[in-house]
Amino acid sequence: FCCFPVNILVILLAAIVFLIVLHHNLIGVSDLLSKESSDSLGGLGLDNFHSHGDDRSERSDEEIAIVMPAVEERLGGVIAAMNSIYSNSKSNVVFHLVTTNTTVGHLRSWLQIEELKGIKYKILEFNTSVLDGKVPIGGDETNLKPLMFARYYLPTLVPGLQKAIYLDDDVIIQGDIRELYETELKVGYAAAFSEDCDSVSSKVMVRGAGSQNTYLGFLDYKKETIRKLGIKAGTCSFNPGVFVANLTEWRQQNITQQLEKWMEINVEETVYNGALVGGSPTPPLLIVFYKKHSSIAPLWHIRHLGSNIGTRYSSHFVRAAKLLHWNGRFKPWGRVSSYGDIWDKWYVPDPTGKFHPVRRHAEDSKNLVSNQ
Ligand SMILES: *[C@@H]1O[C@H](CO)[C@@H](O)[C@H](O)[C@H]1NC(C)=O
Ligand SMILES: *[C@@H]1O[C@H](CO)[C@@H](O)[C@H](O)[C@H]1NC(C)=O
Ligand SMILES: *[C@@H]1O[C@H](CO)[C@@H](O)[C@H](O)[C@H]1NC(C)=O
Ligand SMILES: *[C@@H]1O[C@H](CO)[C@@H](O)[C@H](O)[C@H]1NC(C)=O
Repeated sequence: FCCFPVNILVILLAAIVFLIVLHHNLIGVSDLLSKESSDSLGGLGLDNFHSHGDDRSERSDEEIAIVMPAVEERLGGVIAAMNSIYSNSKSNVVFHLVTTNTTVGHLRSWLQIEELKGIKYKILEFNTSVLDGKVPIGGDETNLKPLMFARYYLPTLVPGLQKAIYLDDDVIIQGDIRELYETELKVGYAAAFSEDCDSVSSKVMVRGAGSQNTYLGFLDYKKETIRKLGIKAGTCSFNPGVFVANLTEWRQQNITQQLEKWMEINVEETVYNGALVGGSPTPPLLIVFYKKHSSIAPLWHIRHLGSNIGTRYSSHFVRAAKLLHWNGRFKPWGRVSSYGDIWDKWYVPDPTGKFHPVRRHAEDSKNLVSNQ
């Protein structure tokens, strides 16, 4: 007689646990459905979802969203970066490639080849008219690269997600991207960046011609609007080519609108440092995230590989790096570059033949000629 009620209790408890689990699963499923049917905002067109190959279909854990700009002349960079990320992680990585309508076809045919099978991606068309009136229309239109500003619109590009990684196209990832994704963001901060005077990069910076590592290099301190901000000119800047964002915070703080406001102010009164011709996306980010960002682990953003020619890091160090960034003039697919051999490992040739790395090796002089 003692045990009968206990049994009922156990059964009741089990039933409650079962219901809770069921409920959670249902919530999970309905979340997914609402994500799939949600459309993008702000006139940014959303393309279909693509995933090839079933061999990797076990990659169904939480999505690690990576947003990258895909510029026609630099698609080789996008492909190599994607390949390196996908090959070095078992996580459910989904690439959100932001491009312009004329590049969609090229990108899609490249991603359909056998070597890239299994990579999940979405192609998003960036409506460049969101930038109307926000970037200086100078004499040299070619300086304006609209896709550089795609990073301002992160929450719109990946609606429904809480977290995302933004990457420039001139990177190679040698670690598991999940580590970067799990970068801790302080409560109330919308992003984590790498500061330009951390110990690793500042040593290199001394030798890097034209590199800037403080706010002084990006903002015009002769302007009252800038001085009024009260930002010390000697504050370390950060590199916005790699960052992790809390999109919930980004939305709540209206970060996009704040960035747009600074673009408009610059059009009116040129508050960026004059050394930045036209369309740098960096100054508004520096202002909006001043003292309001977390940091990325140093090995997750080794930069300046493109600042000049020649080896600046030991080969041992470069092998140990988790993320390599060829920011600067000399891209790893260019005629002269540093550590191009590392990049080559991840590059997959363009089936359309439109893109190919330009190399300085003797056998490549033929390519150089045929390129012109
Ligand atoms: C781009 O955005 C503008 C203004 O927001 C809108 O008028 C236009 O229809 C959009 N174009 C496309 C192709 O979505
Ligand atoms: C790209 O968009 C522009 C402006 O909206 C349009 O004129 C053009 O036809 C589009 N091109 C393609 C290939 O869709
Ligand atoms: C993002 O920010 C929101 C609002 O502060 C917070 O609730 C959430 O835990 C944060 N998410 C991550 C992954 O840091
Ligand atoms: C963000 O914008 C919304 C709507 O424009 C406004 O209600 C809200 O107060 C703004 N939040 C911040 C932190 O500026």
